[in-house]
Amino acid sequence: MDPKRRAGEEAVKLVEDGMLVGLGTGSTAYWVIMEIGNCVKAGLNITAVPTSIRSEELARSLGIPLIPLDDIPTGGIDLTIDGADEADGDLNLIKGGGGALLREKIIASNSKRLVIVADASKEVKTLGQFPLPVEIVPFGFKLTMGRLEAIGGHPALRLTEGDEPFVTDNGNYIADCRFGVIEDAAALEKTLNLIPGVVENGLFVGMAERIVVGREDGNVSVRE
Ligand code: A5P
Repeated sequence: MDPKRRAGEEAVKLVEDGMLVGLGTGSTAYWVIMEIGNCVKAGLNITAVPTSIRSEELARSLGIPLIPLDDIPTGGIDLTIDGADEADGDLNLIKGGGGALLREKIIASNSKRLVIVADASKEVKTLGQFPLPVEIVPFGFKLTMGRLEAIGGHPALRLTEGDEPFVTDNGNYIADCRFGVIEDAAALEKTLNLIPGVVENGLFVGMAERIVVGREDGNVSVRE
């Protein structure tokens, strides 16, 4: 079985009746949503909040009950299951390869538990090989990218296949940055968010409780 699917299905075992569940975004979170859909059909009684328009559409198509974000108390999401682009030994993450990092971070930071699902390729010693996505507002984006360049980020504006700027669910752009090895993810996360024009970045530091990794041989490992 696809390791991403294995990880997704295993993580859904953490979902219990009555929970409010955050639904991640990406090709691994896809399997989480599919499995939650199966469980809901089989009688699981939960509500959910999605981290992207894509995940919202998938969840709706599967009949997963969604509640508006504005109806949720701050910090009131019981469990969010989401993917990652990289996870280091301390479970610090790079996310946003799919462009959903802002909504993902809002949902994660309002979740009592954040569980990451991944295949083994996402596990790294130190973050930084995967380009770090930084969400920036379109106004003055070249100036903002200049700031990112000045701190060593070598930003590249994310483009669509038609060579247009990729636009996030929030109407913003993504600058994919290459800082090289990220020794101090917590410091870089803060530094980036102090740049005017930066909305959020894909470093998730100290947020994940555990990572569920699907392996090629069909096994799953869990690291906390
Ligand atoms: C979406 O913006 C991302 O944060 C994803 O969670 C991340 O890119 C992992 O995606 P895959 O599971 O598709 O690799």
